Amino acid sequence: MDFNKILANRRSTRFYKSDAVPEEDVKQMLNNAVQSPTARNTQPWAFKAIQDVDIIKGISDESKKYLLSLIDGENSPFFSYKERFEDPDYSLFHNAPLLVIVYATNPDISAAMDCSMAAYTIMLNATNLNLASCWIGLSTPYLKTKDAVNRFALPSVEYVPIAPLAIGYPKFPIDKLPAAEKKPPIIL
Ligand SMILES: Cc1cc2nc3c(=O)[nH]c(=O)nc-3n(C[C@H](O)[C@H](O)[C@H](O)COP(=O)(O)O)c2cc1C
Repeated sequence: MDFNKILANRRSTRFYKSDAVPEEDVKQMLNNAVQSPTARNTQPWAFKAIQDVDIIKGISDESKKYLLSLIDGENSPFFSYKERFEDPDYSLFHNAPLLVIVYATNPDISAAMDCSMAAYTIMLNATNLNLASCWIGLSTPYLKTKDAVNRFALPSVEYVPIAPLAIGYPKFPIDKLPAAEKKPPIIL
């Protein structure tokens, strides 16, 4: 796909088909993720790809419960999401059939930056494979908990979840959905 088209078609997507993502596409995205740049070439990342839709739903359900427990009045940062979190049918991962979590192998801010580079590489690669993606930051607080690690056999708490990415085939053609408005660059 033309580079500009990849950039334009990479849109945070919130409607997915249930079709599984082929294993070779998952491998390609992870192999290409590690081509991303890192500070001092440290490559401080590890990846977890989850295709089991029951586990993805389980993580979504527990994340919603966890986020609800963090809401303490109207000034809480997640207050505006309360109704959605209370809705049993609401999927934090928008019902995507694949969840890729990019983990940092150390807690340094620099590792988080490196993992964000890898996450964007995965998202662009997904677009090139006619897949869609969405970074689900709302799932990060729960993914960091011991409960998540134990309940869903996730990597140990020494690995820091940075970028949980919902990935799958878009339910609607990408260019039929309104794109997020982008401001022109502020050029100083
Ligand atoms: C760090 C980060 C966290 C995000 N968390 C969520 C999320 O929890 N749920 C969601 O639906 N979208 C999430 N998004 C997607 C943003 O809402 C989206 O990138 C933004 O609205 C711009 O739209 P675009 O990605 O289509 O350009 C997140 C994006 C980033 C970079």
